[in-house]
Amino acid sequence: MFEPQTTPAYIYDERQLRSDVQRVGAIARDVGCKTLYSPKANTVRGVLDAIAGSVDGFAASSVFEARLSREVLGGHGSIHLTNPGLRADEVAEVAALCNAVTLNSLSQWQMYGPELIGQVKCGLRVNPGMSLVRDLRYDPCRVNSKLGVPLEYLEEIHRQVPGRLKGISGLHFHTNSEASEFSGLLATVRHLADRIGPFLEKLEWINLGGGYLFDDPNTLGAFHESVDLLRSRFGLEVFVEPGTAMVRQSGYLVASVVDIFVSGEKSVAVLDATTNHWPEVFEYEFAPDVIGDSEEGEYEYLLAGGTCLAGDLFGTYAFHEPLDVGSKIVFANAGAYSLVKANYFNGINLPSIYALTAEGELVLEKKFTYEDFARQCGVVEHANH
Ligand SMILES: Cc1ncc(COP(=O)(O)O)c(C=O)c1O
Repeated sequence: MFEPQTTPAYIYDERQLRSDVQRVGAIARDVGCKTLYSPKANTVRGVLDAIAGSVDGFAASSVFEARLSREVLGGHGSIHLTNPGLRADEVAEVAALCNAVTLNSLSQWQMYGPELIGQVKCGLRVNPGMSLVRDLRYDPCRVNSKLGVPLEYLEEIHRQVPGRLKGISGLHFHTNSEASEFSGLLATVRHLADRIGPFLEKLEWINLGGGYLFDDPNTLGAFHESVDLLRSRFGLEVFVEPGTAMVRQSGYLVASVVDIFVSGEKSVAVLDATTNHWPEVFEYEFAPDVIGDSEEGEYEYLLAGGTCLAGDLFGTYAFHEPLDVGSKIVFANAGAYSLVKANYFNGINLPSIYALTAEGELVLEKKFTYEDFARQCGVVEHANH
């Protein structure tokens, strides 16, 4: 399917990317909601550039992401930031780079509010306490969550010492993951309206976070209802900050088979890629989509990453043609939380980055080198190059 000059390769399909960004943007615009792309999902320069012109801004998770966002957006578009690990020595830079900063806790607000007020819009992250995600590792509403002020606490503070919230102009929550429908969002919005309506009335904006795929037109009713409720009843400017929805489908990881042998009952095909190029495959134990994989395929292989780690495995796949050394394996839907989490474990090089242009040309944008690896290791002779 793809024949990049070098593998491993990360390829983003510009046409698909632009179409996904337009789709999500149009859905949000339709209901009067603003879109901030969440670069935590993918920070490839060409990807950011392709998105920048079609969104209202970026939603950063750190000073580095805020700097990157400002470089890419230039003077256009707003940057919102929320980060439970914000440090005192980062606050001035964050204030200079961002338009809005959401404080993750009341203590963050107490520590950094005085410096931020007047420079940026200040928000508070709330934990609505309504779990929508089964896997605890992804659930911001889990017991003893580190993410956001518990709703009951916020309600109490607003009732008893509202002065502590003076200067807060917005609210943020992010409570879902990979969701194709919005019933959880609507339930959460209604719950917030019931519990902290009087506080919402004083605010100017609300950010509903990411975690929605916007991939099923039949489910959009609840999204519309959620945004409508917040806009019409409380007069709020509403934001969403999707990552995956915009970048997942357009990304591919391409590997070459470097060895094939039989082990036990399986034919093992070792790749020049590794799950360290897409760590969530290992962390969350899912088998990514592979082009050409078929239930009827006669030739079955265990696709293995090329590191020393025994569990560095992509999964078992079946093809209609046998694989050989040099065969290409194309993992699809690889655009989110893949390259951005990739690492150099075992000194295996990172995938080269290619754009598949709208004209169908594969253009090499970045090839990582030994020097990049050495610099990251702090090897001095490479550190200044
Ligand atoms: C605060 C926040 N906003 C947005 C996102 C983007 O989520 P997704 O990529 O699932 O749309 C995340 C993901 O973890 C997040 O933590």
